[in-house]
Amino acid sequence: MTTLIKNGTVVTAADMTVADVLVDGERIQAVGTGLAETGTGAGADTVIDAAGRYVMPGGIDVHTHMELPFGGTFASDDFATGTAAAAWGGTTTIVDFAVQGYGESLAQGLDAWLAKAEPKSHIDFGLHLIVREINEPILREMDTMIDRGVPSFKLFMAYPGVFMLDDASIFRAMSRTADNGGLIMLHAENGGAIDVLVQRYLAEGKTAPVNHGLTRPSSMEGEATHRAIALAELAGVPVYIVHLSSREALNAVREGRDRGVPAYAETCPQYLYLSLDDLARPGFEGAKFVCSPPLRPADHQADLWRGLITDDLQVVSTDHCPFDYKDQKILGKDDFSAIPNGLPGVEDRYTLLWDGGVAAGHITPTRFVELIATAPARMFGLHPRKGTLAPGADADIVVFNPDAERTLSASTHHMRVDYSCYEGRKVRGLPEVVMQRGRVLVQDGKFLGQPGAGQFLPRGRFSPGG
Ligand code: URP
Ligand code: ZN
Ligand code: ZN
Repeated sequence: MTTLIKNGTVVTAADMTVADVLVDGERIQAVGTGLAETGTGAGADTVIDAAGRYVMPGGIDVHTHMELPFGGTFASDDFATGTAAAAWGGTTTIVDFAVQGYGESLAQGLDAWLAKAEPKSHIDFGLHLIVREINEPILREMDTMIDRGVPSFKLFMAYPGVFMLDDASIFRAMSRTADNGGLIMLHAENGGAIDVLVQRYLAEGKTAPVNHGLTRPSSMEGEATHRAIALAELAGVPVYIVHLSSREALNAVREGRDRGVPAYAETCPQYLYLSLDDLARPGFEGAKFVCSPPLRPADHQADLWRGLITDDLQVVSTDHCPFDYKDQKILGKDDFSAIPNGLPGVEDRYTLLWDGGVAAGHITPTRFVELIATAPARMFGLHPRKGTLAPGADADIVVFNPDAERTLSASTHHMRVDYSCYEGRKVRGLPEVVMQRGRVLVQDGKFLGQPGAGQFLPRGRFSPGG
């Protein structure tokens, strides 16, 4: 089965050129000009005319939480609904987070997430592990997890009593990755200081959603980010900061990188487009915007865009972790600290970054591809199979119409959540055709995917260069 995508503007992290892409089975066979006429593409079983469209790699979102148990409930998307929504939005690979239960092995956490994901996922997926306890057996098990294709481990410096680890545990885990080649990913917020502030605010009767943001100041993200990088420097290992939200945290990453530490970081669309003002919406509406780190005052956004341009931020992921407003966010009606933390976003990332990044003139199309697909594939051991358009790569392809204007809304999105953080926002750009390993998942406004068709991707070790 061959497919020829002809006449589009093919964009990779390196180049942008009018060309054809020939897909044979699950892989890209050729990228070049005139393939339709020169034999290789002549007689293709299917032809897609991409004139006036960009042809780009399927998005890779390395930070999602399908069905995450959190705050007494579960994230509302499972691997079926969440990955279908991802595909609608142009994302063909996710890396989700398996969670180690207290007193359990890492293998138990991994097996539990594989059991949830494999029968349901419409798109290919990898897994990281959230590690909640560090001891000798767990450190040894990290090696085994790497052998099973899970070479990245998220540790928390926040959420005392739920996920938080102390500095000794973090340093021990980092020291292990110096030997086994794994990557430590940090949720960098000073959980101890934040907890004191939260208790103080609640005692003073400050219960509204905006207090979630006020009790998690950006200085405490900056402090934890600096500490994480200093610990990584001492251990002599790379480190990756997840969901970076603030100027202070970005400064800590930049300073580390400037003195030669292999420090890397991602940000998310919510930190580029939303702000503390959203958390402060009247009544309880701000609960829709409760995530951690919290949304920041709007003046942080320009710093984050600069970070994306200068490569102090290398990845844009979503931290997709949706909770329904009516049934789940409401758990914190009288106590902001009981609002489940997390926002929906897996469907919107591709178009939001195009619209606010490329169409608005902040970044080039090649940088867009690097941020949305190539850099995540490289860092998380998926490149060159994923993240680029080249002979031999998986045919994970988006045909993107940059001129399509639409309005983001819960009434039209496919994520299983009853609100959109971007309700009413007008955007330019639509993934018109979305293909994974040569199979069309989305075309002509129809979804053609199948639950369980997505494959678990055992990943290679961390490698920022590919
Ligand atoms: O608020 C968030 N970010 N929820 C998901 C869990 C996490 O910390 O990534
Ligand atoms: Zn986190
Ligand atoms: Zn997360």
